[in-house]
Amino acid sequence: MNLGGKTIVLCVTGGIAAYKAADLTSKLRGAGAQVRVLMTESATQFITPMTFEVLSGYRAVVDTFDRNFSWEVEHVSLAKAADVFVIAPATANIIAKAAHGIADDMVSTTLLATRAPVVIAPAMNTGMYDNPVTGQNLETLRGRGVHMVEPACGRLACGDTGRGKLADTNEILHAIEQALTVQDLADLSLLVTAGPTQEALDPVRFLSNHSSGKMGYAIAARAALRGAKVTLVSGPTALATPAGVTRVDITSAREMFDAVVSRADRQDIIIKAAAVGDYRPETEAQDKLKKSNDEMNIALTRNPDILAELGRKKRPGQLLCGFAMETQNLLQNAADKLRRKNCDMLVANSLREAGAGFQHDTNAATLLFADGRQETVPLMQKEELADCILDRLLVLRESVQ
Ligand code: CTP
Repeated sequence: MNLGGKTIVLCVTGGIAAYKAADLTSKLRGAGAQVRVLMTESATQFITPMTFEVLSGYRAVVDTFDRNFSWEVEHVSLAKAADVFVIAPATANIIAKAAHGIADDMVSTTLLATRAPVVIAPAMNTGMYDNPVTGQNLETLRGRGVHMVEPACGRLACGDTGRGKLADTNEILHAIEQALTVQDLADLSLLVTAGPTQEALDPVRFLSNHSSGKMGYAIAARAALRGAKVTLVSGPTALATPAGVTRVDITSAREMFDAVVSRADRQDIIIKAAAVGDYRPETEAQDKLKKSNDEMNIALTRNPDILAELGRKKRPGQLLCGFAMETQNLLQNAADKLRRKNCDMLVANSLREAGAGFQHDTNAATLLFADGRQETVPLMQKEELADCILDRLLVLRESVQ
């Protein structure tokens, strides 16, 4: 996550989860953001301003009428400086004030003055959260476009069990990043495949490839940030599920076929970044294969071609994007694949190019389109290439709608 150049105004209100805002401050600053912390008086009963001052490098502001700072109407200047305005944890009290425009302390006054997108992460006792008046206030705020980070269920500090725990820091970070991102993929359903497949030979061994899954995961992460409803069908990888993404784990090509084809109809866009095994052992031994002094030959049989099947079943308006990884005749082979598999776009990688392809965090590619156009994109971070692929698909979508 890169929040370089962004100012996040983080408001901490008075609940036991206030200590978790320290971790949030540290992670936001680690991502390059300037963090300006505002606290309510009651938050200072749970955690001291000094904690936030050390972590943010700025004075934590508590009282609207504090005279001890360089002259500025601080609630207005912070309200203007904010790229995102975050309240975490948000008590039932600040949620009620925000819903009704009450401005009687530094947090509520600055909130009323800001035009920045607002992210609210509620945390409170279950009884307070379930109270219809809190529900109505939350609904009012959602209706005004506030990004709400739903509290988790679990054992609360007060001993009760239920909804009301402050959401995980990563979820709050995701909501902040989303608030900073244009939601140009909102309302779109997108399925991405990623990683290798594994084809079992016996209970111990399998055939596979070097795919790390990084490219497909980057596409899923960026698409979710841009507002798409993302399903990630993933082979075995060491990667964490990107925030906001529904992940379906598979092992073999045939499992990937079933997972993808059964969900294909609901998708607006399908991106097949996975490195699917073309062959599997003809038989999977039930017991471990034992060595002998003879040579060993393994008979292989073809796996179904998932992308080709999707190309056959493609419905009007649906977009299909394939990948091709080649070591020779890159563009010719890629153009041929695009046509054979009825894709709208194909991302061609050369394994011969330094920094591109398997395992790297960077990639370079040529994008091929069904109308014969080609566009070469230079070596860049896989996240940037993911955005570039999504941008091109969005343009194609506008032209077919
Ligand atoms: N693909 C697929 N199902 C397969 C094989 C490939 O869906 N059984 C998809 C990949 O996810 C990728 C595209 O097809 O989007 C091209 O994959 P690639 O392995 O480069 O092409 P193949 O068709 O397998 O051709 P070859 O191995 O002969 O290069």
